[in-house]
Amino acid sequence: MTMTIHGRPSRAQWLGVFAVAGLLIAGFVWAGAAVLRWAETHDIAEDPISDRMMEKKSRQLQRVLDGMIAHDYKTVADAAAEIETISESMQWFIADKEYDADRTAFQDSLQSLQAAAGSNNSEAAIKSADLLVDSCMRCHDHLANDPTRLPQGR
Ligand code: HEC
Repeated sequence: MTMTIHGRPSRAQWLGVFAVAGLLIAGFVWAGAAVLRWAETHDIAEDPISDRMMEKKSRQLQRVLDGMIAHDYKTVADAAAEIETISESMQWFIADKEYDADRTAFQDSLQSLQAAAGSNNSEAAIKSADLLVDSCMRCHDHLANDPTRLPQGR
């Protein structure tokens, strides 16, 4: 097919142009989707306060709670370990001394929860899970009332 257009382009020439344009668009869409998929599976969340990272923290807490209800202590221990990893990468963000107590309570609860879940100690797991939820809410309450932080309602 020659693409040189003499006078009025023929129907076949138009079809050719549309086909090429269509392929280009499909290519862009495909490449865009591939990038999005990549971003989904790789944590571009080197930026620790990215929403994705935060969303993860809540999702893992949900897994802790679901695991507790189902008496599935393997899931509980696994989710607690995930929360620990996530929070390690956001430490700097509240490196503030102000938050030392919150962070300690949080980390202690995660460690005791993992130990309790690991030994199927339901009584201790219940206590630690309570402390974990408590520590999430306390630190967030602290953040919400912190005048040095931007008023973003967090
Ligand atoms: C020691 C303090 C601390 C503890 C404990 C803590 N967080 Fe956070 N959390 C933060 C900080 C700091 C941010 C970032 C807030 C901001 O961007 O202003 C954050 C952000 C979040 C966000 C995103 C909210 C938003 O508005 O972007 C969620 C959801 C969240 N945390 C859930 C949890 C859960 C669930 C737990 C307990 C498993 C928890 N956090 C424990 C300090 C804490």
